[in-house]
Amino acid sequence: MKTPLYIVMLGPPGAGKGTQAKVLAQALSLVHISTGDLFREHLKNETELGQLAQSFMNKGELVPDGVTIKMVEERLAKPDCVSGAVLDGFPRTPVQAEALETLLAQFDAGVKVVPFINVPDEVLVERLSGRWVSSSGRVYHALYNPPMVQWIDDLDGSELYQREDDQPETVRHRIKVYRDQTAPLIDYYTQKSLLVEIDGTQSIEGVTEDLMKAVEEA
Ligand code: AP5
Repeated sequence: MKTPLYIVMLGPPGAGKGTQAKVLAQALSLVHISTGDLFREHLKNETELGQLAQSFMNKGELVPDGVTIKMVEERLAKPDCVSGAVLDGFPRTPVQAEALETLLAQFDAGVKVVPFINVPDEVLVERLSGRWVSSSGRVYHALYNPPMVQWIDDLDGSELYQREDDQPETVRHRIKVYRDQTAPLIDYYTQKSLLVEIDGTQSIEGVTEDLMKAVEEA
């Protein structure tokens, strides 16, 4: 059996992790696991976890490690993850990174490569304030990746909306939380020789090209 391929997408909020994780997962026939999407799904289904997560997400804070790790553990145990996964938004703290290592060790696997999509703060705010999303998780940008019809999803025709946590003040706080709690993972994965820095200011296609190269070379 082929060794499973686990890829961790690292980068600040709005760097393009979700956009690229979808493309990568499709190209490599892997599952895309976004913890943000999983929390939003719980929110939509009005579960207890969804209510708990909402109180943190709306403020731009991280959901506590314990609940986040348990949710990912359950997701990774599903049969569609046997070949690996593209992890988007997890891990986000050193505690989560250690937990992921322990989880994958149970399947005799480990993280293969960690693309770090680097984008300066001023670009992040512009990207998130222009982001339009569909209820099924498709992501557009008013200028850089517009739908065919304004505010309408290309595929299912549903109305697009802006995420509650994409308000400029919350975005600034999310960037601060990223610097304080997630940026230490850059060193963590550099020390493990897994980190590959990608210039996230390029076009969406340019970033995809560099990412595919990074995965092929890993
Ligand atoms: P989450 O949904 O993961 O948010 P995030 O990490 O802040 O990332 P974003 O989804 O905002 O951005 P992205 O990097 O995916 O960018 P995108 O591709 O959309 O998490 C939300 C919340 O959930 C967290 O704040 C936290 O509360 C909680 N949470 C989630 N995971 C957690 C965890 N592990 N632990 C604890 N709490 C957790 O792109 C952004 C925009 O830019 C789009 O409009 C896109 O079209 C555009 N764009 C993308 N690439 C380019 C490009 N190259 N050029 C021009 N525009 C581009």
